[in-house]
Amino acid sequence: MKATPLPCFLDHGCLWNDALGANWVQQGDPTISNKPALPRRPQKGEVLEVTFDSLAYGGGAVARHEGFVLFTKYAAPGERAKVRVSKSKKTWGEAELVEVLERSPERVDPPCPLFTTCGGCSFQHLTIEAQRHWKRHIVLDALRPLPNHAEIHVEETVASPDTWRYRNKMEFTFAKPEGGELVSGFHEPGNWRNILDVEKCWLAPEAAERVLRAAVEEGRRQGLTAWNPRIHEGTLRHLVVRWSVEEQALLAMLLTGNEAMDFPAMAKALFDAEPALKGLCWGLNDGKSDVARASRVLDQQGAEAFDERLGPFHFQVSLASFFQTNTRGAEKLYEITAEALQLTGSERLLDAYCGTGTIGIFCSEMVSELYGIEIVQEAIWDARSNAARNGIENATFLAGDMRLTLPVLLNAVEGRIDRLVVDPPRSGMDKKALAQLLDLRAPRVAYVSCNPTTMARDLEAALAAGYVLEKVTPVDMFPQTYHVECVAALSLPKVV
Ligand SMILES: C[S@@+](CC[C@H](N)C(=O)[O-])C[C@H]1O[C@@H](n2cnc3c(N)ncnc32)[C@H](O)[C@@H]1O
Repeated sequence: MKATPLPCFLDHGCLWNDALGANWVQQGDPTISNKPALPRRPQKGEVLEVTFDSLAYGGGAVARHEGFVLFTKYAAPGERAKVRVSKSKKTWGEAELVEVLERSPERVDPPCPLFTTCGGCSFQHLTIEAQRHWKRHIVLDALRPLPNHAEIHVEETVASPDTWRYRNKMEFTFAKPEGGELVSGFHEPGNWRNILDVEKCWLAPEAAERVLRAAVEEGRRQGLTAWNPRIHEGTLRHLVVRWSVEEQALLAMLLTGNEAMDFPAMAKALFDAEPALKGLCWGLNDGKSDVARASRVLDQQGAEAFDERLGPFHFQVSLASFFQTNTRGAEKLYEITAEALQLTGSERLLDAYCGTGTIGIFCSEMVSELYGIEIVQEAIWDARSNAARNGIENATFLAGDMRLTLPVLLNAVEGRIDRLVVDPPRSGMDKKALAQLLDLRAPRVAYVSCNPTTMARDLEAALAAGYVLEKVTPVDMFPQTYHVECVAALSLPKVV
C-alpha cells in the first residue's frame, strides 16, 4: 500500500510527515485491520521514558510510545531518555528532552553554547558520521511512497569537505532591548522578535564574526538605535556578509532603517577590524518586512564583488548574487550531477532552474550546447557574464518562468534536449512545468533537490512517465543541520 503523506500540522513545515507516513502505512494496511485502534494519547506535560529509533526530516529523534509517535529535538537514535510531552495530537506528538538515561555512542558534546536556543543547527550533538548516516536514512524514508521503494539504490551520504564554518553567506539582525545595549545575532525560534546575541557562529567564516563584533561596537560608540519592528523605526537593521573561499575575502552590507549612521566612521572601524574585508556597502531598508534587502544603496567603499571558483570555473559573486552557500560542498554536488548526466561532449544540455548558471557552466566543457532557464532576471545576467568570463561560447541563458519559457526554447531547438538538470526551489516543481520537462523525453535527467519530500513527489511523476530511477546520492551540503541535498539520476530505457 502507498504511504499517503499526512497534512502538516506543525509550524515548521511538513518536517515529520515521513516518519508519520511510515506509521500510517502500518495502520492503514487492510490485511491487518480495517479500523486500527488508535494508540494511547499521552497528555501534554506527561513525562515518559522512551527509546529513540531514528531521526526524522526536521531534526527530531523518533520514539514510539505504545504506538504513539513522539518527536524530540536534540535526542539521538538508540538512546533512552525521559521526555516531557509538549504537543499531543491523535497519533503523534512532540516532546522535550528532560534527561538522557542511556547515552548513544553517536552523541557528542555540541561546541556551540547556543546550540539548543538558536535553532540554526539541529545535529551538533551527533558525530559527523552519524549525521551522514541518518541523512541517508531520512532520504530513504522520504522515498518510501515511491513504487518499488525497497529497490531504490541510495548511496552513502557524500561528506562536505568542510564540516564547520562552511557557510559563505550569513545574515545577522540588530536589536536594542529596552534599557539594554545594542546586540546582533539571530532571531530566536518561536520568539521571532527576540534577537540572540551571537559572539560566535560555528557555521560562519571567522572574518564574519570579527566584522559583526566591530559593527556592534561602532554602533554602540555612535549611539545608534536598532530597528524596532513593532514601530518600524530605528537605524541598524541587518549585516549581510559573503565569503570567497578562492580569494579568502569578505564582502559586507549594512542595512539601516534611516540615514543616521556615520558611514565613513563605521567603514573605518570595520576595515580596521578585518583585513579580509574587501568591500562594504551601506543600504537603506525602510520597508516594513523583515527581509535583508536594500531599497537604495546609500554608499559603498571597496569592492562590490569578488571572484569565486568551482572546479576550473571562475564566478563573479556579489552580495546580491545567488550562489550555493557551501562552496566546496557545491563542487562535490556538481561533480555528482555531471556524473549522473553521463556527458560525452555531443549533448544538448538544459539546466532548468539554473540560478546564476553554475551547474550548466560546470558541465559546459562536456556538452555541445548549453541552455539555462531561470525566473530571476539578475541571476540570468550573472549567468551570461559568468559564461563570458570563462570563455564559454556554447551557452544561452533565458530569463522567465519555466512554464512560459520552456516552449520558447523548444521552438528554437526543435524540441531536442539530450540531457536535463533540474534544481527547483524547496517546494519542488509545479505540476505543469514538471509535465513539460518530462515531455522532453531527455534520455538522462539529474534531479537536484534540497528537499527529499518534494523530490520524492516529483520523482513519482518521473517514474510514472517511464523514467528509471538509477540511484539517489545524498550530499551533506549543510553539516550540523538536518538539511540534505540529493542528486537523483534518472534515465529513459532505450526503445528497441
Ligand atoms: C535551488 S535554486 C537553483 C540554483 C542553481 N541551480 C545553483 O546550483 O546555484 C532554484 C532556482 O529556481 C528559480 N526558480 C524558482 N521558480 C522558478 C520558475 N517558476 N521558473 C524558473 N525558475 C524558477 C529560483 O529563482 C532559483 O534560482
